[in-house]
Amino acid sequence: MIFKSSTTVVPDVPAVPRHIAVIMDGNGRWATKRLLPRVAGHVKGVEAVRGVVEACVLRGVEYLTLFAFSSENWRRPEEEVSLLMRLFVTALEREVSKMHANNIRLKVVGDLSRFDAKLREMIANAERRTAGNTRLTVSVCANYGGRWDIMQATSKMVAANPGVTEYTEDMLAPHLAMAYAPEPDLFIRTGGEERISNFLLWQLAYSELYFTDTYWPDFSVESLDAAIASYQSRERRFGRTGEQVAKKN
Ligand code: IPE
Ligand code: IPE
Ligand code: MG
Repeated sequence: MIFKSSTTVVPDVPAVPRHIAVIMDGNGRWATKRLLPRVAGHVKGVEAVRGVVEACVLRGVEYLTLFAFSSENWRRPEEEVSLLMRLFVTALEREVSKMHANNIRLKVVGDLSRFDAKLREMIANAERRTAGNTRLTVSVCANYGGRWDIMQATSKMVAANPGVTEYTEDMLAPHLAMAYAPEPDLFIRTGGEERISNFLLWQLAYSELYFTDTYWPDFSVESLDAAIASYQSRERRFGRTGEQVAKKN
């Protein structure tokens, strides 16, 4: 299924966000505050993921997208990067069977060419195994960057349209790494920073943005519900007036 872009067609506004995208930030500060090594925060962060995935299933969210490692996170100390990679492998080993049993589809999105062969194979196996699951799609963005995504999609679009010199949004969108999902209804960033940090630059055009000071390891089901409640209090206009929106409902 090809999803229309929010700038081409005014999308439906679901009461419960159909797609939630999250920048899981604050793991390091959570640990430092407790005089623990930063990695302890990442370990605790994986637990928070489990809780949020379960809550999304129960609330009927269809797509949950989690920013796990950005294309700029390679700039971190080598030790932290390799610990994060190991954590990713362990999480895949431990969680994929459970996800599969719960009818959850797993996607890993980003430039995977920089990961070692073993990790790439694990990712491919996990995606293959869960490909037919329909309850919730969890996308883990790893070595993902919004600019990388737009550029790789542009290259594919140009290659797919030889001789064409003018392009439209609808020609680009199917080549984006997450073309299988509608644009996020709700974007959440934990950890207090109010920036996008090169996450889904294209897809967040009309997402409702929600920022919280809560560090990711402390982000609970109640925190998720507070974000959803905030989403539900907004009027999504997509360029129209409030009167126009009211008339449609
Ligand atoms: C987010 O937490 C996890 C990753 C980026 C991998 P951080 O590690 O960025 O935590 P802070 O922002 O330093 O507290
Ligand atoms: C964004 O967090 C990336 C992830 C959560 C994976 P960062 O901690 O890397 O973002 P900046 O550096 O504060 O912008
Ligand atoms: Mg951070």
